[in-house]
Amino acid sequence: MRITRTVAETRSAVAELRGKGALGLVPTMGALHAGHISLVRAARAACHAVVATIFVNPTQFGPNEDFSKYPRTFDADCALLEAEGVDLLFAPEPAEIYPEGFSTVVEVEGISDRLDGHSRPGHFRGVATVVAKLFNIVAPDKAFFGQKDAAQVAILRRMVRDLNFPLELVVCPIVRDPDGLALSSRNRYLSPGDRQSALVLHRTLHRIEARAAAGETDTAALLDAGLAALADEPGVRLDYLRIVDPNTLEDVPTLRHGALVAVAAWVGPARLIDNVLIPPRP
Ligand code: PAF
Repeated sequence: MRITRTVAETRSAVAELRGKGALGLVPTMGALHAGHISLVRAARAACHAVVATIFVNPTQFGPNEDFSKYPRTFDADCALLEAEGVDLLFAPEPAEIYPEGFSTVVEVEGISDRLDGHSRPGHFRGVATVVAKLFNIVAPDKAFFGQKDAAQVAILRRMVRDLNFPLELVVCPIVRDPDGLALSSRNRYLSPGDRQSALVLHRTLHRIEARAAAGETDTAALLDAGLAALADEPGVRLDYLRIVDPNTLEDVPTLRHGALVAVAAWVGPARLIDNVLIPPRP
């Protein structure tokens, strides 16, 4: 696996990989876990060559967020990517992505203020900007993202459509531990007790999903059932529990057309997110 640090090096390494079949891109912030590996495997299966990126993007963190303590495990990440047959890893320093005087951003308006965008102002501007830059640098045929960041997926889909990026955005299912906890780099912040408490997120989504499967379509009633499940863990501080349209992230009154049930909460020092997609009713 070749490792590049600059845009110029990356462009010339990508040029050597191009032309023999589809080129896949897996953007990450490192601290890799089995969720990331599932993206790499999906890319490997669908593409001739796979480019991964590791960049802890400062512009998607708020001033009081965890940018400085975000886990950085570069050597272990490289070993995992190498073992999965990644062809190229682009791991730039912040100054390579945001050189002196950088002043252009990508703002996916409206939708970027919903769910995590509401709680983390500016977060999705940072995500859209860095992902647009990675798309321009690598020019992949397919780019792979996890469904766990459902709001990120909706925003990037909109960006790809609105700015005519000539690529397919591939969304891979959430990977969970056997007890249901969605994998996240931030799970490393959890003490054993926090980790146990964090299971309430999955239980909450599961309760809503079960009520929906039993025929309940009224989202207010479903949210009440979810909030009751969350109340079992008073130590978990809810940020939001919403039932929204998965494309617009706007609240929906019924499940008739399918919906995204999304939750975010603070568990100890970690802000965790999780979600489930409810299919449309016949
Ligand atoms: O999902 C992530 O890890 C990040 O938001 C991404 C897409 C790599 C952009 O920094």
